[in-house]
Amino acid sequence: MALRLHVIICSTRPGRVGPAVAAWFHELARQDGRFEAILVDLAEFGLPVYDEPEHPVRQDYRNDHTRRWAASVAAADAYAFVTPEYNFGPPPSLLNALNYVYKEWNYKPAGIVSYGGVSGGLRSALIEKLTFTTLKMMPMVEAVAVQNVAARLDGTGGFLPDEHHGRAAAALLNELHKWAEALKPLH
Ligand SMILES: Cc1cc2nc3c(=O)[nH]c(=O)nc-3n(C[C@H](O)[C@H](O)[C@H](O)COP(=O)(O)O)c2cc1C
Repeated sequence: MALRLHVIICSTRPGRVGPAVAAWFHELARQDGRFEAILVDLAEFGLPVYDEPEHPVRQDYRNDHTRRWAASVAAADAYAFVTPEYNFGPPPSLLNALNYVYKEWNYKPAGIVSYGGVSGGLRSALIEKLTFTTLKMMPMVEAVAVQNVAARLDGTGGFLPDEHHGRAAAALLNELHKWAEALKPLH
């Protein structure tokens, strides 16, 4: 059975560019053929600021939005987080979604496709890795970083990648596959 890779759109604001970058990466993952690649949009889960009374490790979820999100996270063998950088850090939408569940993330590889201005979202990516490891995810060294993302949009919802973005994506997919296979027995 193919390993399941969730490509997660981490930005939730109206007018976001995240879906353009995520659609590009998702298509590459699909063409790669080694994964069942699924596009997951955080915005569709409508998660409020964390509102569960129990620690997520108990999995005693009281809200339907949490149950839906937990089921989605649990279904994956690997993640590719497509993330912007807000004020030199991760978007609150992603940190909030990470906090909602715990065991569902455990022992799975996490790749990052970041985007932004001159930083390419790298500061956001570094901070995200700290939280990933606390959730017992394995962060990938290989990554995609898109600088000046605003200049790489085609105006109709598409992303215009450079050649090096494609090479970085291929390297990330290789690593995700290797780690996903190795970690599968643990979850
Ligand atoms: C609240 C906020 C903070 C931002 N801070 C940064 C930043 O620190 N670094 C950066 O490169 N871009 C920053 N930007 C610009 C984003 O890179 C740009 O708006 C991008 O489109 C955000 O991704 P999104 O459209 O998917 O939400 C910021 C944008 C917003 C809305």
